[in-house]
Amino acid sequence: MDLQQAINERRAARAFTGDPIPDVTLEAILRMGTQAPSGFNLQPWRFIVVRNGENKSKLQECAFNQRQVGEAPVVLICCGDRAALNSDNIEAVIGLGENNNAMNDQYANYMRNTIPSFAENGPSFGSTEVWTNRHTMLAVAQMMLAAKSFGVDSCPMEGFVASQVKSAFNIPENVDVCCLLALGYAKEPYKQYGGRFHLKQVCYGESYGDSLTLASS
Ligand SMILES: Cc1cc2nc3c(=O)[nH]c(=O)nc-3n(C[C@H](O)[C@H](O)[C@H](O)COP(=O)(O)O)c2cc1C
Repeated sequence: MDLQQAINERRAARAFTGDPIPDVTLEAILRMGTQAPSGFNLQPWRFIVVRNGENKSKLQECAFNQRQVGEAPVVLICCGDRAALNSDNIEAVIGLGENNNAMNDQYANYMRNTIPSFAENGPSFGSTEVWTNRHTMLAVAQMMLAAKSFGVDSCPMEGFVASQVKSAFNIPENVDVCCLLALGYAKEPYKQYGGRFHLKQVCYGESYGDSLTLASS
């Protein structure tokens, strides 16, 4: 399935067949999702891949007993690590860039000097949790579309108790649980398309609230 079709046909699946996702497909979905962009390439997303039945039941209990958590062959606990703003990760990203011939000393030093104060002052986010969520959800969105391109359906979920998920799955204090993502093959009848607001309602031209004119519409 091509990208446009995947975008148009993706629906949040609420029921799944028991069919497993082949590992080769799951790996491709994870790999494509983690190609998402991130500020300074810091890549704070972390994913716990839950496939074991007992663990899915445990997760379902933390997620208001939502059916798709128990039924989907794979549920990702999608997390963001606030420690990705620390110097160890900055150095790891610099090393990665060097290995890819995409880093020079000047930019490495810029990162070393800039990121700590950016992290402390958070000029574009109110709390570091906003920062982890911003990045992790981009990777999740990319995973949903990658999955759909392989015929794999998904359901993103915010219906869970983060503190319960954290203690049940040994998630450290500095790591935020951003969402759950169920992955598998949707069971019919499929969820209906609920519609989207008209572009006029959500896109503005030049200043908030001003109407946007497009020659094409
Ligand atoms: C961040 C986020 C959280 C969501 N949480 C849940 C959830 O807890 N349970 C659920 O069944 N669907 C959940 N959904 C799915 C939405 O209900 C669904 O995406 C929306 O109704 C639009 O439908 P569509 O994705 O099929 O077009 C969530 C979606 C997003 C993006």
